[in-house]
Parts: sequence; C-alpha cells; structure tokens
Amino acid sequence: MKIIKVKDYEQLSNTAAKFIIERVKNKPNIVLGLATGGTPEGTYKNVIQDHQQNGTSYEQVVTFNLDEYIGLPGSDKNSYRYYMNEHLFNHINVKKENTHIPNGEASNVKQECEDYEGRIQQIGGIDLQILGIGENGHIGFNEPGTSFNSRTHVIGLTEETRQANARYFPSIEHVPAHAITMGIGTIMEAKEIILLASGEKKREAMKKLINGEVTEDFPASILQKHQNVTIIADEASLSDVQLSGDGKLDH
Ligand code: PGA
Repeated sequence: MKIIKVKDYEQLSNTAAKFIIERVKNKPNIVLGLATGGTPEGTYKNVIQDHQQNGTSYEQVVTFNLDEYIGLPGSDKNSYRYYMNEHLFNHINVKKENTHIPNGEASNVKQECEDYEGRIQQIGGIDLQILGIGENGHIGFNEPGTSFNSRTHVIGLTEETRQANARYFPSIEHVPAHAITMGIGTIMEAKEIILLASGEKKREAMKKLINGEVTEDFPASILQKHQNVTIIADEASLSDVQLSGDGKLDH
C-alpha cells in the first residue's frame, strides 16, 4: 500500500480528483468504480470543476458504483443513483447509459446481483476503484464477517452503519436494512484502488487498515494484499498511524 497523507479534507479532495483526472486522461475509456458517502463529495466537486474549466472528457468513461440501498427508487434523494446524478453525473459529459448502479428496486435482487457482476466481467473489470471506509471497516457495504471471496450480493446493514448513515434520513427507522453491494472479491479484482479517508472518526479504522491483521472481521484489511492500492487520507484520520518517511508500506 502507498499512503498519501494530506493536511485536511480540502487537500484530500483536490489530491483524489487529480489522481482520477490523470487516469482518465491516460485512458479515455477507463472503467471507474465509484463510491458514495460524505468523503468523495469534495473529490467529485473538483472533478466537475476541472471538467468545466479544462474540458477533461468523460464521453467514453464507463462507471460502476459499489452499492445501492434495497427498496429506494433512483428518484429518492437518499438513493445512490440520486447521489451520483447530483454530485457527479449531471455535471460532466459521461453518458448516462454508461453509468451503472445496482438496481435496488429489482423484483429479483439475486438476479440483479448476478447481472451486475456479469456486466463488470464483460467489460473486462474495473480499472480504477474509488473506496471510502466505514468506521467498522466496511468497503462498499461489505460489513464485518463478509467473505473475502464474495461477489456482488445482498447484505443486511449493521446497526452501526445504519446509525452512521441516519444523518441523511429523517430518522434511523427510515434507513433501509438491506443493500446490494459489489463483493470483496469483485473489489479486489480492480486493477488499481484508491481509498479516501478524512477526519478523527476514521482514526481507529485507519489504524486497523494499515497496521492491523488481515481478517474478515475488518473487511478493508484485505487491501493489504492488493498490488496497487493508494490511500489518500488526512492528518486527522492518520493520527494513530506510524508512517515511515515515504509513506510506502511493505504490504
Ligand atoms: P463516509 O462513508 O464517506 O460517509 O464516511 C464511508 C463508508 O461508509 O464507506
């Protein structure tokens, strides 16, 4: 893993956006794996600003999002389809038909998971996957205990995750109990991964991610085994982590 330590959220957003933009310029038909949540919002803002000012094109880019709540239509402002349209897709020239998010309203969710996985395989996999991290170590919605070999699947959300996300809903009862998420096996097949983390709340998670053991009890720990991971994180989230000078780790 390589670690880029930045000062604060603003720098995190700037650095992550530059990273993505560079990859898009190098490969205009890149397949991006995208994340939702509070952390990447600033990154997407910077991507949009660059698109408007410098004309970086997303015309050939294909995207696959990590996850979606089950039971929310794409028109619901808490669905991840809505989030992505609002925070990114509506403001860049990506073709909507090239943007993929699991359908949380599918009548046969199991089939939807298989189809989603199939679409990722068919296009040749994800070139660059963007990840956030849950305080409990989840990546996508792969909660602690999820198999490292999992493919796109239905997951029951933990109380902790529903609490963390309740800030977007009128109350915790409104937070869906289930979601569709890419599996950990799916995520690990991405050719390159960047993981973004910001703020004190992620301190414990970053410590386990970087210095902890690889265990299904802490899903993100599997990233220690991936060949091409860059962590972009701010000082607050890394305050419990010991780093050597160049930010490179052996695993
Ligand atoms: P956050 O969510 O960016 O809103 O902190 C991250 C996650 O739960 O994966």
